[in-house]
Amino acid sequence: MKAVAIDGPAGAGKSTISRITAKKLGFIYVDTGALYRTVGYAMDSKNVSVQDTQGVKNALKDINIELKFIDNEQRVFLNGEDVSDKIRTPKVSMLASDFSALSPVREFLFDLQRDIAKKQNVIMDGRDIGTLVLPNADIKIFLTATPEDRAKRRYNEFVEKGVPVEFDKLLEEIKQRDYNDSHRAVAPLKQADDALLVDTTGNTLEESINLLFDIISKRLGL
Ligand code: DC
Repeated sequence: MKAVAIDGPAGAGKSTISRITAKKLGFIYVDTGALYRTVGYAMDSKNVSVQDTQGVKNALKDINIELKFIDNEQRVFLNGEDVSDKIRTPKVSMLASDFSALSPVREFLFDLQRDIAKKQNVIMDGRDIGTLVLPNADIKIFLTATPEDRAKRRYNEFVEKGVPVEFDKLLEEIKQRDYNDSHRAVAPLKQADDALLVDTTGNTLEESINLLFDIISKRLGL
């Protein structure tokens, strides 16, 4: 099996670039952020706070998360309900970042992520894929861009979907999530020693996709 690990901060274009590159390669694209978002969403629905470690552990016992690939598109199910769209709000982004700092949550999602990569060729994106989840990935990429550039992309995505958002607020949230994700004690966001750093600041989406596709296909000998 072949595995491509793509890590990096929020809004660097990981998911769009990974999805399209996976399609070109005939690989499955696994968005691990969706799993943490689903946990954040579930905890919020159950009114469990991030400070309540025992409450989180108890709640995890009642949470069943499944990933299904329908027409090669990932859908995430929480106790049988497809929550793929509900988890894409700024509120859930922050909840995901908060709850993902807890080790019981990370342990809960670990095998699920690993098992997928055992069965098929994957491009998996997240924060700790190259460092912890798939340390033997065939290629590891750390994808980044300036916070302003990333906030601009997120802003445009929301505008396209007709969701009202403020740019300054998004920028603040991106900076806050960067800080949370890279300063937590467990599995912090950091570039793996053997990962290739790719900075997409100022690139068009097409430029970034072509760049990544070239790097990955060369490394995989395709
Ligand atoms: O990639 P995303 O923005 O959908 O991720 C949401 C949050 O989930 C992110 O702020 C941190 C967390 N996350 C994580 O801790 N580890 C991963 N592999 C993926 C996401």
